[in-house]
Amino acid sequence: MPTSTITHAVIPVAGFGTRMLPLSKSVPKELLPLGNRPAIHYVVEEAIAAGIKHIVLVGHAQKSAIENYFDINAELDNQLRHKGKDELADSLNWLPEDVTVSMIRQGKPLGLGHAVLAARPIIGAHDFAVLLPDVVLDPFTTNMSTDNLAFMMDAFATDSHSQILVDQVADEDVHKYGIAKLKNNAAKDVDDQSVTKDSNASFRVAGFVEKPSLADAPSNLAVVGRYVFSNQIFDYLANTTASVGGEIQLTDAIDALISEYGVNVTTMRGASYDAGDMRSYMQAFIYFAEQQLAKDE
Ligand code: G1P
Repeated sequence: MPTSTITHAVIPVAGFGTRMLPLSKSVPKELLPLGNRPAIHYVVEEAIAAGIKHIVLVGHAQKSAIENYFDINAELDNQLRHKGKDELADSLNWLPEDVTVSMIRQGKPLGLGHAVLAARPIIGAHDFAVLLPDVVLDPFTTNMSTDNLAFMMDAFATDSHSQILVDQVADEDVHKYGIAKLKNNAAKDVDDQSVTKDSNASFRVAGFVEKPSLADAPSNLAVVGRYVFSNQIFDYLANTTASVGGEIQLTDAIDALISEYGVNVTTMRGASYDAGDMRSYMQAFIYFAEQQLAKDE
């Protein structure tokens, strides 16, 4: 496979996280802990492991603590080193030298599609990845440098089709996600050899339906929150009007892109955790804490 040409990624972090209140009232939901690190730490590590060098956080005035997390706190650094805690100080400066993290603000809260479009002045003409930080892929069992995002980036380099990561969800969860409509529309329940947890597979998709009822869901393959886009998506986003929930939906722009160019879904390898929903966040917290404790022993 050719090596990926994607070096840029957008991580939208402007949302208030109403499903995570009261935890998210004064602490951005992206900084809530999973084990011994804030949730977004794993998402940024995942992007870097896949080969991303420029990360654009699309934020909000009240979420500057996220920007600070990826900056060097010189005062703290000095104090730790003064006390001889150099190892601890070094561990805080974990971001590789050749990786930059920048922040741009969304301004108006007009939806996920609008948030991604807000990154255009920094992304420019590059093709790029999008990682939604509510979803954290299991870093303990997944190889972040070859699986999922890295696979999608390589698949994009091979045939220039945008790639959308999908995973099978239970019937009661389809209304929470963007759901893929497969080419062979007959298949409601995807029971295909290519859809397995042990490997990634990439194939053309006919479209997406954002948060359908179970009756209207075209399949059980949900959009996980990892995308690799050709730069053309920006033109489609710029022409997308508000729909479901009165928001400019990324899903609508993807559907418009599909009608002129092909788009692929990539099936997910490993497990993912929804850290943007209280119940699943608590389950994820227990899993990450247990894994971390076992590693430290
Ligand atoms: C967004 C997307 C949806 C996707 C989901 C994954 O929805 O619009 O297509 O399935 O993220 O978490 P949100 O959860 O932001 O409402």
